[in-house]
Amino acid sequence: MTRSFIDLRSDTVTLPTDGMRNAIAEAEVGDDVYGEDPTILRLESLAARLLGKEAGLFVPSGTMANQIAIRLHTRSGDELICDAGGHPYNYEAGGAAMLSGVSIRALSSDRGMLAPSLVDATFRGSDPHYAPQTLLVVEDTSNRGGGTVHPLSLLDELAHVAHKRGAAAHLDGARLWNAVVASGEPAARRVQEYDTVSMCLSKGLGAPVGSVLLGPTALMERARRFRKALGGGMRQGGFLAAAGIYALENHIARLDDDHHRANILGEGLTALGYTIRPVETNMVYVTVPHGKTAVEGLNQQGVKASKVSETELRLVTHLNIDDGDIQATLRAFAAIA
Ligand SMILES: Cc1ncc(COP(=O)(O)O)c(C=O)c1O
Repeated sequence: MTRSFIDLRSDTVTLPTDGMRNAIAEAEVGDDVYGEDPTILRLESLAARLLGKEAGLFVPSGTMANQIAIRLHTRSGDELICDAGGHPYNYEAGGAAMLSGVSIRALSSDRGMLAPSLVDATFRGSDPHYAPQTLLVVEDTSNRGGGTVHPLSLLDELAHVAHKRGAAAHLDGARLWNAVVASGEPAARRVQEYDTVSMCLSKGLGAPVGSVLLGPTALMERARRFRKALGGGMRQGGFLAAAGIYALENHIARLDDDHHRANILGEGLTALGYTIRPVETNMVYVTVPHGKTAVEGLNQQGVKASKVSETELRLVTHLNIDDGDIQATLRAFAAIA
């Protein structure tokens, strides 16, 4: 396969490897809406085992996993609390309001990591003037925070604050495996205090489609109904689940390579005189004089990057980026400097 661009816009752009394509081709499938797709059932139980939760539900996207979680934990008129850079607040098309009738209280954070004291102070009690605050959403790693990894004690503490205030805690773990590999802490331990977790297979893990929502069996049974209502029942979806199983079995440890390459990229950009945010996992946020001009200049050099503000670009390393691509990207940044 020939590539015309080095695509660093996101880790969602990965293409299936040959091994993954074989796993897809050989998948045993059935009708999952009847609960009869053996490969989806196997993926759901594998994910539940890895994350130490009772049950899992395979869904088409991280957005659907988060939206089902919001629906599970709230009622119309409630409010959820999350980081102002958080995915449900910024990038889920207003789904919390549209699908669950829920408003969002978005808090400022330190690189995507909320302060427990601020979260605690945000819970306002039961005065009838206020919307019931029934859910806290924490994102780990934090995408807009810079690919940041919450310290384990902070993850725990945030969930404890929510529970103390009678709210549920949901972890948006779109990139939880990046956090697991970077921290060296077991996945089940990192998500232990959270009622539900969404985990993406189609980001750094390199599967083409899919996420798993995890939590207690009774909640996942209700989640199955919401998934159906959203049109997320995928019949012979085992072909996609096979890619997910392959990703979980083969692509977790290699995330360390992505982190290493992001570090090299960050160091190289710094050496070229660019300012970057601290690199913790597979994301490099770099300041440029003018975002649109920089993206166009990089495009001309064969590199794709995401513009996240007028003066900042995001570069994400992944399965289809190698050492040579990092050096070529640095040459492109030198050329546009
Ligand atoms: C932190 C986070 N949560 C959720 C999602 C949603 O995933 P999807 O694109 O599969 O809907 C993303 C997507 O990039 C994300 O970065």
